[in-house]
Amino acid sequence: MLNPFDIIIFGGGGDLALRKLLPAMYRAYQEGNLPEGSRILPTVREETQRAEYIETAHKALKEFLAKDEFNAKDWKAFATFLVPVVSNVTAPDDNWDVLKGILDEHDSTKSRVFYLSLPPAVYGTCCEILSVKNLITPTSRVVVEKPIGYCGESAEAINGKIAEYFSEEQIFRIDHYLGKETVQNLMALRFSNSLFENMWDAKSIDNIQISISETVGLETRAGFYDKAGALRDMVQNHLLQLLCLVAMESPHKLNANSIRNEKLKVLEALRPLIGSDVDKNIIRGQYVPGDLNGKIVPGYLEELNEGSSKTETFVGIRAHIDNWRWAGVPFYLRTGKRMAKRCAEIVVQYKKVSHNVYEDSVGEIEPNRLVIRLQPEETIQLTLMSKRLDNLEMQLEPVTMNIELSQAYSNGFHSDAYKRLMLDAAANNPSLFIHRDEVRQAWKWIDPIIDRWQEKGKPALYRAGSWGPEDADELLAENNHVWFNTG
Ligand code: BG6
Repeated sequence: MLNPFDIIIFGGGGDLALRKLLPAMYRAYQEGNLPEGSRILPTVREETQRAEYIETAHKALKEFLAKDEFNAKDWKAFATFLVPVVSNVTAPDDNWDVLKGILDEHDSTKSRVFYLSLPPAVYGTCCEILSVKNLITPTSRVVVEKPIGYCGESAEAINGKIAEYFSEEQIFRIDHYLGKETVQNLMALRFSNSLFENMWDAKSIDNIQISISETVGLETRAGFYDKAGALRDMVQNHLLQLLCLVAMESPHKLNANSIRNEKLKVLEALRPLIGSDVDKNIIRGQYVPGDLNGKIVPGYLEELNEGSSKTETFVGIRAHIDNWRWAGVPFYLRTGKRMAKRCAEIVVQYKKVSHNVYEDSVGEIEPNRLVIRLQPEETIQLTLMSKRLDNLEMQLEPVTMNIELSQAYSNGFHSDAYKRLMLDAAANNPSLFIHRDEVRQAWKWIDPIIDRWQEKGKPALYRAGSWGPEDADELLAENNHVWFNTG
């Protein structure tokens, strides 16, 4: 069992804290993973917000937890862990001394996690004040959210500033996709089954697709999203991290250094897309009004309430990893808002059989396909060719083995990426967090794409409720491939 810890959530009244971080801690409590003596200290700007915080948290948990999770008894017990405090993260005023007083009431060796649920632009100032006010102990850690910066240069500046006050071992850069149980299962699938690993390379695999489609639009984040776009919001972090887990070599041990080193090698081997390569290999899109599950939803510009914006809400990419294992295998990455379905999956499309003995009798044989679906359901599907058993003819057809992981385990456990990652930070386990070198390398690949888009072209339009712009289908058609669209 984890030792008691203090977690200070800067931006405690913000959307992320109320929607994700508090529910995560509540779940940890319900499962017996929030040790007695731990404290959750959400920070707010005003004294009135502090006085009302317990009620704010109560409302948020009722709204954002599933119905079967929230109950009055657990809430009452959980509320005793909450210690709201006032803090101005841009000025070292007296409130910081109050926070220090509260933290110092406990043993100085207690784990202290500063969770910066704040805009990245103030990470540096906040860390500086933590240091000036003497709040950083040897057992302190800082958790920072993605995307770090808007480009490589700004990310370096932010990371550099944080590093003035915390050592790399104390910095936990979060990518919540890495906390999803199914994403960890991806490593388990690869590295605990010889069946797949022996056929996990250019000799056997024709192409790999990694796709995260969402049905939501802008939600309440217009200000952030219109500046960021899908490339920064989803590709620079979530999609590239999934790509790393799919393509990396086996780490020699399951520790943070080995895993991060292997991921970094994948990022380094990603073939750069520069200038006209960007036009040839990447499609960006923006949604216009359309029919999403029987309801007409507005387009991006209407949601934004602006006449024009070149921000992309969809990205489709053909990437290559230039190493021995993956030479010649296209990796297709795709993400978009307001798409036909919410789904995140990895599709491994195997090669055709080397010689088709059924050519005369049956014709074409479909190649095998492995689909690892991360959400909404957690499934693993393997499609194989099989003879029909209901007649004397030699008729082959694809059949799918379907493993429904969520049904395999039904003990009421609520898988929650933030819960896992916050507890990992408290336990000082950085395996599922991102090293500064990975952030640097990921931006190195993304920056030239942003540069090209700034100087040339605009997004292709796609209807809300579709699978993205037609250009994205044409991108794959150039290699005789098609996107695998769920459902
Ligand atoms: C976040 C992005 O990191 O991930 C959001 O900022 C996106 O735009 C979200 O909606 C998707 O996460 P999930 O876990 O719902 O797939």
